[in-house]
Amino acid sequence: MSIQVERTRQRFENLVEQLEDSAAILTLVDLGVFDLLFKKAQSAEALAQATQTDSFRLSRFLNLASALGFMAKNGDEYALLDGDRDLFDPEQSYRHGNRLQGLKKRLTTFLAADEILRTGVPLEVAGSGGDVSEADRRGFLSYLHHASLDVAAEVASWTQYFSLSRVMDVGSGAGTYLWEVLKAHPQAQGQWVDRKNAIGLAQEVATAEGVVDRVNFLGGDFFEDPLGEGYDLIILSNLVHCFDMQANQRLISQLSHSLSPGGRMLIKDFEVDDARTGPLKSLRFGIMMTLVGNDGDTYSQNDVLEMVRPAGLAHEITLGMRTSPHSYGMIFKK
Ligand SMILES: C[S@@+](CC[C@H](N)C(=O)[O-])C[C@H]1O[C@@H](n2cnc3c(N)ncnc32)[C@H](O)[C@@H]1O
Repeated sequence: MSIQVERTRQRFENLVEQLEDSAAILTLVDLGVFDLLFKKAQSAEALAQATQTDSFRLSRFLNLASALGFMAKNGDEYALLDGDRDLFDPEQSYRHGNRLQGLKKRLTTFLAADEILRTGVPLEVAGSGGDVSEADRRGFLSYLHHASLDVAAEVASWTQYFSLSRVMDVGSGAGTYLWEVLKAHPQAQGQWVDRKNAIGLAQEVATAEGVVDRVNFLGGDFFEDPLGEGYDLIILSNLVHCFDMQANQRLISQLSHSLSPGGRMLIKDFEVDDARTGPLKSLRFGIMMTLVGNDGDTYSQNDVLEMVRPAGLAHEITLGMRTSPHSYGMIFKK
């Protein structure tokens, strides 16, 4: 066998082993094993009883997890690593736990890819606005909220020189970006727009951020519902990746009528290069977007220019992001 063939065979084998490791560890996350270990170190038998699983098989998973450095094994007992306790603290599960569950969802979505490629029928998910339960939407959006706090603060800092009195965040989710902008502009009023069953979470977060009195919450479908007019700023954060080019062109053209003259549209999303050769994270994300929702994709900056062109808005500036290296913020003006 040539060295090249041997190397490629080895790479394939590594891929499979990494997938096996990922599935094993995320299965333990899914079963709640790490949450149980947060309470106390336990044997495989005790963990099997608590998770209603087969202890003989579960113990094999636990051994692999400790060999991979995700937990410690002391005699018959398994324990969380000291430095990992924060990650599984139920007080912080809003922050971290959902994120680990989200990783499992990502993996299972990729594993369903062959079926989705064959049928062409994507999965309904919260992120793309699909018809999902309130609990599912809350899980996804609260994860996204905590993952985006720094990025939202950076985006809000870009608006400090704008004079804003009415701001609309379309597909706002937990409202992460809108609350940061409203905090930076104490006189401004906010319009939150997303699915009806996201309102509960958004109101909780807006209350915690001290802006709820300045916000109007509109639950529905932003492609169909009237969204008003006279906005100085419309935010589309992590939204255009949910839709195909035509849907984005239609949405942005509709929204341009909601802007006041001189008003701005801010599009924040994940970057991909024009030839679609990288970054790798964005290529993986592009696959994910074809497996869920509405034929979305990761878009290059030139794609976004094409998306906005029919609306006739002028490109003002594109900003790179310190807090999210593979993201851009593009600002357009009416
Ligand atoms: C990927 S999330 C982004 C959330 C938020 N902008 C952020 O960056 O954290 C996209 C959001 O758009 C919402 N969405 C998608 N299609 C929608 C539609 N047709 N009407 C209302 N909301 C929609 C989803 O419910 C979801 O909250």
